[in-house]
Amino acid sequence: MTVKIFDTPEVQNFLNTIAGFDQEGGSDRAKQILHRILSDLFRTIDDYDITPEEYWSAVSVLNALGQGTQFGLLSPGLGFDHFLDMRMDAADAEAKRTGGTPRTIEGPLYVAGAPEVQGTGRMDDGSDTDGETMWLNGQVRDTQGNPVAGAKVEVWHANSKGGYSFFDPTQSEYNLRRTIITDSDGRYAVRSIIPSGYGCPPDSPTQEVLNLLGRHGERPAHIHYFISAPGHQHLTTQINLAGDPYTFDDFAFATREELVIPANRIDDAGEIARRELDGPFSEVVFDIVLAKTDEAALQNRHARPRAKEREQDQASQLAGTARV
Ligand SMILES: [Fe+2]
Repeated sequence: MTVKIFDTPEVQNFLNTIAGFDQEGGSDRAKQILHRILSDLFRTIDDYDITPEEYWSAVSVLNALGQGTQFGLLSPGLGFDHFLDMRMDAADAEAKRTGGTPRTIEGPLYVAGAPEVQGTGRMDDGSDTDGETMWLNGQVRDTQGNPVAGAKVEVWHANSKGGYSFFDPTQSEYNLRRTIITDSDGRYAVRSIIPSGYGCPPDSPTQEVLNLLGRHGERPAHIHYFISAPGHQHLTTQINLAGDPYTFDDFAFATREELVIPANRIDDAGEIARRELDGPFSEVVFDIVLAKTDEAALQNRHARPRAKEREQDQASQLAGTARV
């Protein structure tokens, strides 16, 4: 059975009704966008002769994704996060906001409220004995090469098993999460451990979708950053450590050539003593260039429900829907 009904007046009128075009209330933008998305999906069902079995199995996957709060994981896997970056890159290029360190995706695992340190500090709680000591440092500069003192460098990364504190209950609060304020020379330096790459859980609905596409769900070892300073464009980025088998094969499409950084093994006793470490370590140097802007909106990260912030969002939504 192959039928084509999408272009019939009946289906077109039906779509207009579903999208609330004949209703006064609601949001015009939401109506237009929903109308477009539903039209595209209805057309897909028609064009590919999608069966009821296929449709309901998709609904089941969506329910499983929601139940596991995995939309935030599938989103980069299906390229949405990188596509939004590509659009912001294009907008920057058009406005001539160029010359800064490239952005790349945030991912779903940022947690607001990490401890703040001035210039230097330690990110790991010392409990991950499999983790190789990492000395992560760099300088924040503007596009003219001037150091940016007092810049806020927020860093978060996984432990040696690929898990993030807050989401991994075995880790201490804010382990491997810090906000570092750059010193008078724009520099930041923290002791931490080399993170491991990680993959989507094999039995997860995210991996189920990737399996259908013949794709793996692995990410290379990486370190997330938010960098901000008054008068400069907020930067969301991450570095991928060189040499990981997935450095250039990231399921989340976050890798950018300029953001691949080596971890250099150092075993010189003088260098170890200078950093007050207890043995050989790997040094990771990431210098950051921020583009200047006077636009207030560009100086802050975009709004998005995030852990810790999200609890407040949900609390306010509940307050808004309570009936008396
Ligand atoms: Fe990550």
